[in-house]
Amino acid sequence: MIDFKGNYNKVISAEELNERVAATRHFVGKVQRDDFGGWVDLPINYDKDEFARIKKAAKQINDDSDYLVCIGIGGSYLGHRAVIEALGGERGRTKILYAGNSLSARGLERVVAQIGDADFSINVISKSGTTTEPAVAFRVLKDKLIDKYGIEGAAKRIYATTDANKGALHDEAVANGYTSFVVPDNIGGRYSVLTAVGLLPIAAAGINIDALMDGAEEERTGLISDGGKAAEYAVLRNVMLEKGFDIEVLANFEPDFMYFNEWWKQLFGESEGKENKGIFPASVVYSTDLHSMGQYMQEGRRALFETFVEVAADYKKMTVPKAEENLDGLKYLEGRTLDSICKTANEATREAHEAGGVPVFEIIIPNIDERSLGGLIYFFEMACALSACTLGVNPFNQPGVEAYKNRMFELLGKPGYEK
Ligand code: PA5
Repeated sequence: MIDFKGNYNKVISAEELNERVAATRHFVGKVQRDDFGGWVDLPINYDKDEFARIKKAAKQINDDSDYLVCIGIGGSYLGHRAVIEALGGERGRTKILYAGNSLSARGLERVVAQIGDADFSINVISKSGTTTEPAVAFRVLKDKLIDKYGIEGAAKRIYATTDANKGALHDEAVANGYTSFVVPDNIGGRYSVLTAVGLLPIAAAGINIDALMDGAEEERTGLISDGGKAAEYAVLRNVMLEKGFDIEVLANFEPDFMYFNEWWKQLFGESEGKENKGIFPASVVYSTDLHSMGQYMQEGRRALFETFVEVAADYKKMTVPKAEENLDGLKYLEGRTLDSICKTANEATREAHEAGGVPVFEIIIPNIDERSLGGLIYFFEMACALSACTLGVNPFNQPGVEAYKNRMFELLGKPGYEK
């Protein structure tokens, strides 16, 4: 289970916190019943047949592809990249490449160059099936696939993850006989990592998706009656906002968690940033960023609070070697594991920032493995939904995302978008 510790005594009494957490409980049922609350029970009621088809497709991809290009953006991209990178990358033959997450020609060119003459497949992921960034990248990469394998051969190497019944991608998949997977109607993009959206790329990377789902299921069991520690975190975030701390910085000491931070920022930013409300989600990866953002964190404007994601298990693989001399002054660290030094740096940073006026929270995961990440994903999803409800906004829509699209379509001359 995921643990949460909030040093809240300076901002709210234990009684007040308990009262506010109790008042949040009914939001669990509310989000579970919501038209977009499908993620709440997903760990226990996911489609087992589709799950088996995902594993079969992943095996096929591993058998015939050096690369799987995952085309998608936002909720159709960040979750699987977060999990794959947090677990240290691909474990088998197939390397995962990402496309369609920007409109950068240079970025797409790099992906094409990296594939070169190697064997590859595509997993195009879009719930709506009409998002411009992935649609453009899909056109380009589909051409390359057809050049290499012919129309029929290419169709066998395209895996489409999209709506069950509608949308341009759905229609194309049906017309061309692509292997297809479903983004359930009742699960929005940023809550979809534990559906085929995330599971196919994660499985193709050789990661154990059973253990990922088991971790999410265990966390669900712990949170489903009253929100548990996720409710505590959700309430304390809102207390921080009320006290003028309107920026939350997610911090951890693992560079492999960079994309997990990105996934978290989307989850909270898109869920809460509306109606002129919301905490601004930011992130850092320490100790790297202590040498860039550390100064601001310690002494900058006191409007931020910090949530550390920490790992309970020790990683014992590397120690500071013994040396004859002490020219580098490191004798006092000889024999210590690098992980224990890193954990000490984490503790010191937390204490220094708190002393500097930054309220700090800790989220502790058992280990860096599939099970822990499944639990962490579920914990954050629940916390985010409860936090948005506490704030008084809809956790599941994103009306603001349309504004840039409408103007872009107008400028690009898309039919129906003329001024
Ligand atoms: O969370 C969301 O809903 C968004 O980030 C979407 O996932 C993103 O815009 C991509 O949409 P689609 O999957 O329809 O291409």
